Amino acid sequence: MFLSLIIIILFLYFLFIINVLIMAGRDLPTSRKAKKNILGIIVNNLGSKKDFNFCDLGCGRGDVLFAVRKTFPRAFVFGIEKSFFQLFFAKLQTFFLRQKIFFQKGDFFEKNLEKANIIYCYLPKALLTRLEEKLKNELKKGTLIITNTTHFLNWKPNEVFIVHKDKPDFEKLFVYIKD
Ligand SMILES: C[S@@+](CC[C@H](N)C(=O)[O-])C[C@H]1O[C@@H](n2cnc3c(N)ncnc32)[C@H](O)[C@@H]1O
Repeated sequence: MFLSLIIIILFLYFLFIINVLIMAGRDLPTSRKAKKNILGIIVNNLGSKKDFNFCDLGCGRGDVLFAVRKTFPRAFVFGIEKSFFQLFFAKLQTFFLRQKIFFQKGDFFEKNLEKANIIYCYLPKALLTRLEEKLKNELKKGTLIITNTTHFLNWKPNEVFIVHKDKPDFEKLFVYIKD
């Protein structure tokens, strides 16, 4: 029994290392401080509405999803992630923390996002132009969009939040409301 547990832990550790090597720095999770700001932005913009539909595009290991689910238990919280390993660890956490979070494996450019009330993303700049186009065409009026660090080129943010005063560009949050 004890030996099986050790083998499982070693195996999970091995998968974690593989994941770190494969992602090579592209899996930077949202910091605790930024998550606190994101929850504040949601409260400020959605007020008493608690049963919204939240989606993290490229949810990684699901850190933001867990924070949203914990603060807003009535929200439908889901993430889309293309990396098998990231998704594996996200689902593992969901299992152990017994959280009702939904995941979709794949490329978010191929998913329909029209049901979302809030979209969050922490993605490389190179993806944002294409994403801006998709969100403008697909989301319904009033959808709240929060981007971390990178921002849309042609879409003026309604608000901008500096998360780290000593590093103002790091994890700067851009808030958009679909018109
Ligand atoms: C910087 S991490 C952010 C993780 C998480 N959103 C967070 O803030 O903690 C970016 C994630 O987006 C995923 N990703 C990038 N492009 C994607 C795409 N087109 N479809 C799905 N996932 C994507 C990557 O695999 C990576 O896990």
